Amino acid sequence: MQTGAPAYHEVFHRPFWEDLQAHPDFRASFGALIGPSGHGVPDPEVLVTGGWESVRTVVDVGGGTGWLLAEILRARPEVGGTLVDLPSTVSRSVEILQVAGVAERVTAVGQSFFDPLPAGADLYLLKNVLGDWLDREAMAILRRCAEAARPAGRIAVLGGVSPDEDCGPSPSLLMMVLVGGRDRSLAEFRELARAAGLDIQAAGRQSSGRLVIECRPTS
Ligand SMILES: C[S@@+](CC[C@H](N)C(=O)[O-])C[C@H]1O[C@@H](n2cnc3c(N)ncnc32)[C@H](O)[C@@H]1O
Repeated sequence: MQTGAPAYHEVFHRPFWEDLQAHPDFRASFGALIGPSGHGVPDPEVLVTGGWESVRTVVDVGGGTGWLLAEILRARPEVGGTLVDLPSTVSRSVEILQVAGVAERVTAVGQSFFDPLPAGADLYLLKNVLGDWLDREAMAILRRCAEAARPAGRIAVLGGVSPDEDCGPSPSLLMMVLVGGRDRSLAEFRELARAAGLDIQAAGRQSSGRLVIECRPTS
């Protein structure tokens, strides 16, 4: 029977992310999969209109163990960062941030991104987060970002959105089975963002080809 619900929950009786929090070994191997040994060193050249000169504070929402934030801050000594992820994930960021030499510029916050986020930063990053969730949850995360960024902050979305012409009908099978999320076309994302109180300001590609979408809270 097709329910649209993630099969992981059906088989293991709790959502993938909760199971990860409960099992340190499983969490560590998933962390290795999405960290540099699995996905490569994250590209700190996140496109920002007007350039990074306009950014002094960045919040990585669902930022995992801090690999992207570490690379961004390593490249930009004048920027300070906040890492937001579930408590047991954030607790594993300490060594990564220390080795990168940026730990003193990072505040690590163990919380859900469905709760109010640290407010007032210049830039909020959502990398490989929205594609893990169906529309209701993805919109709730975007709403939290919009609230926290208002009035002058921005949100950069990386991953989970494809240019309209590239977006095929079937989502990533792994994502669908594990967490129930889906890839969205740019047009679908625009609608979701608008409903969450965000307008798309710009979209461009990193040198790796990854699409970066910049949004601002609607006034
Ligand atoms: C696919 S990973 C992406 C991690 C990182 N942004 C990256 O690109 O490597 C999704 C992240 O969302 C986090 N996450 C899942 N549910 C969450 C929640 N309710 N609140 C905060 N973070 C959550 C997971 O712990 C995980 O680190």
